[in-house]
Amino acid sequence: MLKFFLRNHDWVNGIAEARESLVAGKHRNDVIEQAINAIEDDRSIETVGPGGFPNFAGEMELDGAFMDGKGRMLGAIAAMKNIGRPVSVARKLMDVGLHTMLAGEGATEFALANGFTSSDILTPKMRQRWNLAVRPLHDEPGTIMEKVRGLNSFDLENDLESRSSQAPFDSKDTALMIASDGNDISIATSTSGWAGKHPGRVGDSPICGAGFYVDSRYGACGCTHMGEVAMRAATARLVVGAMSLGMPLSEAIAHAAKDLKTLSGGAGGGLVVHAVNQQGDYAVVSCNAGPVKFWFWNEKMPNPVLLDAEEWNH
Ligand code: GLY
Repeated sequence: MLKFFLRNHDWVNGIAEARESLVAGKHRNDVIEQAINAIEDDRSIETVGPGGFPNFAGEMELDGAFMDGKGRMLGAIAAMKNIGRPVSVARKLMDVGLHTMLAGEGATEFALANGFTSSDILTPKMRQRWNLAVRPLHDEPGTIMEKVRGLNSFDLENDLESRSSQAPFDSKDTALMIASDGNDISIATSTSGWAGKHPGRVGDSPICGAGFYVDSRYGACGCTHMGEVAMRAATARLVVGAMSLGMPLSEAIAHAAKDLKTLSGGAGGGLVVHAVNQQGDYAVVSCNAGPVKFWFWNEKMPNPVLLDAEEWNH
């Protein structure tokens, strides 16, 4: 097996270090954790970690997961408050090896018991944005879900003095990384989820088989963007399962993309599907999610390259 990694988005944080670490012989899980921490710790990134937008109640609830394709060990963390690195908590849960998923207060409790520190991770910038855009809705009639639904078409940018490059209510992005250290493949995710989401809403990023899946015998798949869609279609497992039945990577991705087209009802929305096979071939397809980029490197390449996903619109 080749050493390689694939990381979504054009965020450069930790990319050079990931290559250096894999070349130096570091374990894939250490490399992935470090490269995702580099995104979680960057407060200028507004869809992952403490830089993200809070839920409807003004609280940060973070999701993340870690899965090792050797033996398919798993740790997933959902709707965790007050801890800034869900990917590291998920990895700890995987390494402990008893439960596979913890949510809410139990996730925070587990993190605290394992040396993570707790703090109010909502940034002043996001507190201000939430105060402007969401807090006033609390006094209006209607259920939280009705108001969350309304936020999707709400143009928060017009309410802000300083414009951001990203419309907060389109923010369902994730940090996602797949890596091989030459022995096996692992995958991990981390996100602050849907901006302004209903408290307790969990996206696909910590849901095994939806937002991520890996089996070193065949490959790995991870999804970003509209988590509800990946959960309804169990997209990541579908891609890896198709490869396990002998489908080439490109056909497995096409199979999953066709399957997404058959969903009806619900919120809909685009999904980006990132996959690699056991040989280290890759495919990244943006299904109705617009242009996106990703990083790829393998040990035959001098440096990681930033590539464009294929766009499949229907
Ligand atoms: N894909 C990230 C989310 O839906 O939360």
